[in-house]
Amino acid sequence: MTGIYRALLLAGVAAGMLAAARVTVGLADTNPYATPAKLGEALFHDPNLSKNRTQSCATCHMPARAFSDRNDTHSGNAVSLGDDGRSFGDRNAPSATYAALTPPFHRDGDGAWVGGQFWDGRASTLEDQAGGPPLNPVEMGMADEKAVAARIAERADYIKAFKAFYGRDVMADPAKTFAAATSAIASFERTPAFSPFDSRYDRYLRGEVKFTDQEELGRTLFFSKQFTNCSLCHDVKARDGRIEGATFTSYKYFNIGVPRNPDARKLNGAKPDDLDLGLAANPHVGGDPRERGKFKTPSLRNVAVSAPYMHNGVFNDLKTVILFYNKYNSKKKSRQINPETGQRWAAPEVADNIDLEKLETGPGLDDQRIDALVAFLRTLTDRRFEPLLEK
Ligand code: HEC
Ligand code: HEC
Repeated sequence: MTGIYRALLLAGVAAGMLAAARVTVGLADTNPYATPAKLGEALFHDPNLSKNRTQSCATCHMPARAFSDRNDTHSGNAVSLGDDGRSFGDRNAPSATYAALTPPFHRDGDGAWVGGQFWDGRASTLEDQAGGPPLNPVEMGMADEKAVAARIAERADYIKAFKAFYGRDVMADPAKTFAAATSAIASFERTPAFSPFDSRYDRYLRGEVKFTDQEELGRTLFFSKQFTNCSLCHDVKARDGRIEGATFTSYKYFNIGVPRNPDARKLNGAKPDDLDLGLAANPHVGGDPRERGKFKTPSLRNVAVSAPYMHNGVFNDLKTVILFYNKYNSKKKSRQINPETGQRWAAPEVADNIDLEKLETGPGLDDQRIDALVAFLRTLTDRRFEPLLEK
């Protein structure tokens, strides 16, 4: 965690405590939510914030499933079903764990885009992000901010908490009510429950557990710039340079040549040959052709329990993902086959801007090494999700 983000998190906690202190003076007996984060937790789980009252944030970001979508709809969890019970989106729901550590959307010193929420960074912060799903017609489907504010105003306990944390007049203006709701949800997402840093890997770093030989080989391969290219994009250090706080992403954008997901397109009615332009479709990027087909490098924390993979959920198994990367490095014929389809790897959805220089770094890997990388990625699972790891 960088100093700035640690400070932001702490500031969030401090603001929560201050607000809580205010409540103890005034509304202690009547306010059921001790902090903005507690209020945010209730909102995160509240299906009344969707049009047909069937869907909350937690529907697609299931707390028991590493805050990812494991509803087992007929999309195979590649894309999510909306509140209308019919519509499917076109992108895979990422785990919301560690999302609080993503820096705001910005350009780095070299002019490269970094950070932001969503696969294309179009929401800069968690607050901006939380305003998206309630108004998205294929997700929670509410008409506008006013409609959301009216649902919040249905509950006296919400009204009390909103006034206590966000000011007496917060319920008078729907835009203010809506903004307060996104702020509360973001406070919840910044709590340690989302970013506990207690995986086997973290315990290994603290000397509490030993890795198996296979996990140790996987770690060595992942960290090595000689045998793999992973750490060129999935940084092994946090943004402040510490090894302990790593989320395994630089938060930068790349096109790694992911193919289309035809099954998802069948469900959501998009044309099979539609292009998801990724970063280039982010309104702040203005269609820049150099950004076509790039997606945000995702964190690899909890990756083993949040299948399927890539922005469109096109791969079901973690091993397939590693084999996909290895097609760039291996001359072997068998490595040109996607084990999930039995066919050659399908062509990239967007052929422009594929970062071959980074992807072709390193040698082909034998099965033992591929399996070791999978074993290492499994160690990045937070302690409470470890029972979800398939044997
Ligand atoms: C219908 C399913 C669905 C619902 C409901 C939903 N999400 Fe999501 N969420 C997604 C999908 C799909 C994405 C990725 C979309 C994209 O990148 O364009 C996403 C992305 C995110 C991200 C970005 C994570 C990252 O690393 O980029 C966060 C955070 C998040 N959602 C939180 C929420 C919150 C908070 C709510 C409730 C206000 C919510 N979601 C409701 C499906 C859903
Ligand atoms: C050039 C940068 C780059 C390199 C090198 C790279 N990745 Fe990635 N990785 C990405 C990006 C970008 C995505 C998302 C791509 C998309 O969805 O279109 C991704 C996606 C993934 C995913 C899927 C995560 C999810 O939640 O869907 C896994 C797992 C992964 N990478 C592991 C690895 C491993 C292991 C290596 C080394 C063998 C590696 N990556 C090398 C940039 C990179």
